[in-house]
Amino acid sequence: MPTRTISLTRYLVEQQRHDGRIPGELRLLLEVVARACKRISYEVNKGALGEVLGTAGSENVQGEVQKKLDIIANEVLIEANEWGGHLAAMASEEMDGIYLVPNRYPHGEYLLMFDPLDGSSNIDVNVSIGTIFSVFKKDPGQDGVSEADFLQPGRQQVAAGYCVYGPQTTLVLTVGDGVAMFTLDRELGSFVLTQENVTIPEDTQEFAINMSNMRHWAPPIRRYVDECLQGVEGPREKNFNMRWIASMVADVHRILTRGGIFMYPWDQREPTKPGKLRLLYEANPMSWLVEQAGGAAHNCQQRILDVQPTALHERVSVVLGSKNEVERVLQYHLEAQQ
Ligand code: AHG
Ligand code: MN
Ligand code: MN
Repeated sequence: MPTRTISLTRYLVEQQRHDGRIPGELRLLLEVVARACKRISYEVNKGALGEVLGTAGSENVQGEVQKKLDIIANEVLIEANEWGGHLAAMASEEMDGIYLVPNRYPHGEYLLMFDPLDGSSNIDVNVSIGTIFSVFKKDPGQDGVSEADFLQPGRQQVAAGYCVYGPQTTLVLTVGDGVAMFTLDRELGSFVLTQENVTIPEDTQEFAINMSNMRHWAPPIRRYVDECLQGVEGPREKNFNMRWIASMVADVHRILTRGGIFMYPWDQREPTKPGKLRLLYEANPMSWLVEQAGGAAHNCQQRILDVQPTALHERVSVVLGSKNEVERVLQYHLEAQQ
């Protein structure tokens, strides 16, 4: 007898059937996003054999040089999602403004936001990268759709997830009922449920931060990392390990798998920016996944999911992962204000 496998399709159908958690339209949306991720995964895997490596010779609205795969992944997600009738509009890290579903297709009530290719600096060096996505509902009282519809706090997300293209391709998803992981079975061509009820341990001895920015950090972040570095001889009385992949998807995936703390805080390099990571495409979906797995996420002042966005490409400071460590970092910020 073959072992019973649960495909993503079946998982979503059961979520819809058992408690109506996912309306049919949302189920369709998530299946389409997953299909797009599968396609991106195949493009990523072509590497030097396909036309997918290197820069595209253009910049995005945030002034970052676009890689070919940034653009390919963006196009795959747009093309896959525009015709299904479940969306009102999309927004992407790689597009200046929102993308309205063309009038030739039916319009739905959902809003989809994505970072089509996270970890762009890792593409050409064959290190894990990914796609991050976040789904909201449009205000039903309003006709049409505008940028303002996208400026909702992260706690109003109805689905969020990412797909990591690493040694395996893994799709990680929440619809507000915990976190589930699906591994791409390349022989079947489908995502198969490989872990449910993902839980982040409350304590950890592993931190992730780009240490090269240390001299630019605010004192509470320096204090936290300093204490970790002192190991058993320091106030924490235990040794810490460090990891930094430079793909948020891969760092968060590790934290969902075995715990840890991830930080991309504000720093003095660009003091007017709250941080590097984008609130709508990166911080919100990752924060909801982490909270759904029992972890915590804040911007050194408040819960990220409570931040009221004011602009599409807004940035935010990010501290997320194992609850007790994340709360400690927040505590150090509170103490510094006294
Ligand atoms: P993106 O490739 O979508 O621009 O995101 C990259 C982000 C994030 O994935 C990662 O954690 C961080 O940038 C790495 O930044 P540094 O190169 O400054 O370490
Ligand atoms: Mn990114
Ligand atoms: Mn990106």
